[in-house]
Amino acid sequence: MKSLEGSNSRIVSVGAYRPARAVPNSEIIDRIESTDEWIRQRTGIESRNFARPDESVIDMALAAAKIAVERSKLSIEQIDTVIVATITYPFQTPSAATALVAALGNPQAAAFDISAACAGFCYGVGMAHDFIKSGTSQNVLVIGVEKLSDFTNPDDRATSFIFADGAGAVVISASKEVGISPTVWGSDAQSRDAIVMEPSWIELRGEIDGDKWPDIKQQGQTVFRWASFAMSKAAKRILEKAGVSASELAAFIPHQANIRIIETMAKEIELPDSVIIADDIRTSGNTSAASIPLAMDALLTKHPEAGGGLALLIGYGAGLVYAGQVVQLPPAWNS
Ligand SMILES: CC(C)(COP(=O)(O)OP(=O)(O)OC[C@H]1O[C@@H](n2cnc3c(N)ncnc32)[C@H](O)[C@@H]1OP(=O)(O)O)[C@@H](O)C(=O)NCCC(=O)NCCS
Repeated sequence: MKSLEGSNSRIVSVGAYRPARAVPNSEIIDRIESTDEWIRQRTGIESRNFARPDESVIDMALAAAKIAVERSKLSIEQIDTVIVATITYPFQTPSAATALVAALGNPQAAAFDISAACAGFCYGVGMAHDFIKSGTSQNVLVIGVEKLSDFTNPDDRATSFIFADGAGAVVISASKEVGISPTVWGSDAQSRDAIVMEPSWIELRGEIDGDKWPDIKQQGQTVFRWASFAMSKAAKRILEKAGVSASELAAFIPHQANIRIIETMAKEIELPDSVIIADDIRTSGNTSAASIPLAMDALLTKHPEAGGGLALLIGYGAGLVYAGQVVQLPPAWNS
């Protein structure tokens, strides 16, 4: 059998889409007996963005993808593989990725979705790297997109202030240099019940009347403890596998679930002050699969000097599942 010539890979560009409507804590609190101060202190969240009712996962993914492709300087026809990470596309099949490639005008690209919740983007980055390394793909578009406002109960005190909408995309291309480390990934599936979306479509069969709809439910403290400590250990394993020390990082871009989790992780990994820590949670909330590319875009907008530097990425969420890698950040477009 002929072996294909593989290559290293790197992220060549990032793009983001945030829905126009910013929703401050003051709009959320009345229905859950909460306060702006409590939400800020316990999560870091000040506001988040919600999509319009008529704005779909595909609309948001398309907007982010177009920016990433434009910044990559590639033509859309050069993108041979499209991976969409999402848990809020409301159809099992055909996939969000096929809707996206059709909308992008590149309907012959390989296209599929992955369901790995808030770890989905890093699962996609790992796959994109491996596809390029093995010679299967040359230029891969990885998108994390969520419309969590459709799947969050505004009266649920444990979730309504956390989740939000948005899309982030990266283009990953073959490269001479090593721009993406091997991925560290896994699951902790005995804690599957810690974050769920229910009832299932089957339970809802014939019952959709506006009152019943799948919503996310979570055991906040269980997830908080797991994220803070097990994920700090996973982050250390990512650095070890990459052969990179914390002091060599330009940035730390973890899943944006809670600022206290992010700060605990940064302490456990012993990040020096020189490392820029993504805190997009403050104005974007938790956008699940979209959170890391949105945070990457925000970080490079604010700190263009970090472009080309190394960043530690780690995503974790429902499953429970996790994945992460060290990547070379794309050049900032605004530097
Ligand atoms: C959800 C989360 C912010 C809750 O914070 P917490 O500190 O664990 O809150 P607790 O559930 O322990 O509740 C603490 C107190 O706040 C109160 N509280 C809970 N929710 C509240 C809310 N929305 N507003 C105001 N008070 C609230 C509780 O009643 C409790 O009060 P008490 O001390 O008088 O009994 C936190 O657990 C978390 O971020 N978990 C991880 C979530 C996550 O990462 N999810 C996504 C993974 S992808």
